[in-house]
Amino acid sequence: MDKSLRTPVIAGNWKMNLTPAAAKALIEEVKPLVADAGCGVVFCVPYVDIAAAAEAAAGSNIKIGAQNVHWESKGAYTGEISAEMLQAVGAEYAVIGHSERRQFFGETDVTVNLRVKAALAAGLKVILCNGELLEQRQQGITMEVVRYQTKINLAGVSASALANVIIAYEPVWAIGTGLTATPEQANEVCKGIRQLLAELYDADTAAKAVIQYGGSMNAANAADLLAQYDIDGGLIGGASLKAKDFAAIVAAASA
Ligand code: PGA
Repeated sequence: MDKSLRTPVIAGNWKMNLTPAAAKALIEEVKPLVADAGCGVVFCVPYVDIAAAAEAAAGSNIKIGAQNVHWESKGAYTGEISAEMLQAVGAEYAVIGHSERRQFFGETDVTVNLRVKAALAAGLKVILCNGELLEQRQQGITMEVVRYQTKINLAGVSASALANVIIAYEPVWAIGTGLTATPEQANEVCKGIRQLLAELYDADTAAKAVIQYGGSMNAANAADLLAQYDIDGGLIGGASLKAKDFAAIVAAASA
């Protein structure tokens, strides 16, 4: 397997931060700093920011995404947004299965799978998140948990569709806590996910899959994480709200 088969992707996840005006300002600030990036650059923004962010990013190498997507194209689903709606305002990506959705909003592996399939069918690119809780790591079942999640979340997704899926390994204990998995811990799980993809699909599909690490990745620790063989980028929360920090992570992924 050859790391150069894969182009890394650095994706910012703004979570519930920034108004449309602030979104536009941050994209304008980041744009020149990442113009020469040797990796993919994405911001996954609040729904109401997508149009402003897409307008600010137009003509640049920055792509815009949402932080979730519903599995139906329309209907009586109060509070939900469809893939078609996201695309109509300029989103090309959707984060699906983020641990905050799973923990605080009752998302299950089954609903994550429905969202993944619908997003891919509509032509969105997917950033599919998985990861273990602290107790699960302490119990030594990290890989079982991540394999279980990934298997259900990808059920019914073909090898060709998987080219439009980025898997983000995000240990829940590392998200927003300032605790980062060590490069070795992060790589071990990303490698295990790649191994699972080889089992579910084939060696070539697995070798080409983009697998990110997420969880307190920042300007200081990004280079060591991204140097790992099976880590192809990052999903960045807090540090994606600061132009210089985000650009430094993009630079680390481009090196
Ligand atoms: P963090 O968030 O970088 O703030 O830990 C990562 C994420 O939730 O994707």
